[in-house]
Amino acid sequence: MKRILKYLALGFAAIFLVLQVFQIDKTNAAVNSNETIEAVMNVPPDVKIILGKACNDCHTNSTIYPWYSYIQPNGWFLKSHIDDGRRHLNFSVFATYDANKRAKKLEEICEEVTENKMPLPSYTWIHRDAILTETEKKALCDWTVAAVAER
Ligand code: HEC
Repeated sequence: MKRILKYLALGFAAIFLVLQVFQIDKTNAAVNSNETIEAVMNVPPDVKIILGKACNDCHTNSTIYPWYSYIQPNGWFLKSHIDDGRRHLNFSVFATYDANKRAKKLEEICEEVTENKMPLPSYTWIHRDAILTETEKKALCDWTVAAVAER
């Protein structure tokens, strides 16, 4: 019995080591300042801070990859969240969206944070400062409501 456990442990260790060979691609696409959200909208400083600490890692091309992104299978989950997040909403290319799409995304920002769907729980689990306070959620909503009304 002891021997079986030992072989099992060795087997898992070997598989874990092999997984480490498959590192994720961490190259960020270049950010063109004409295409960012700041190019087409006023983003107040307090909103910028909130987006920066809680959203930008998955919703811009300026992702900062944490140390655990180097450990598989963690990195794979992380990468799929980032790819998926960018596909749905990418502040680095927000200016390339048409007016309707911009308005829709802005409305969804308020919705997602009010319903506590964003930032993803797997993110706030490690990034504790990304857990938004009611004041921060309100700041995001006030900003998006004003921005949609202005256009
Ligand atoms: C860990 C990565 C991650 C973080 C951090 C994150 N998101 Fe997301 N976001 C995603 C993923 C993945 C999706 C697409 C799947 C889904 O809707 O659950 C998404 C979807 C969205 C959508 C829906 C867009 C659409 O068209 O359906 C909005 C809006 C959004 N996020 C806003 C935010 C805001 C605002 C923050 C910060 C307060 C944030 N997200 C933080 C990963 C993230």
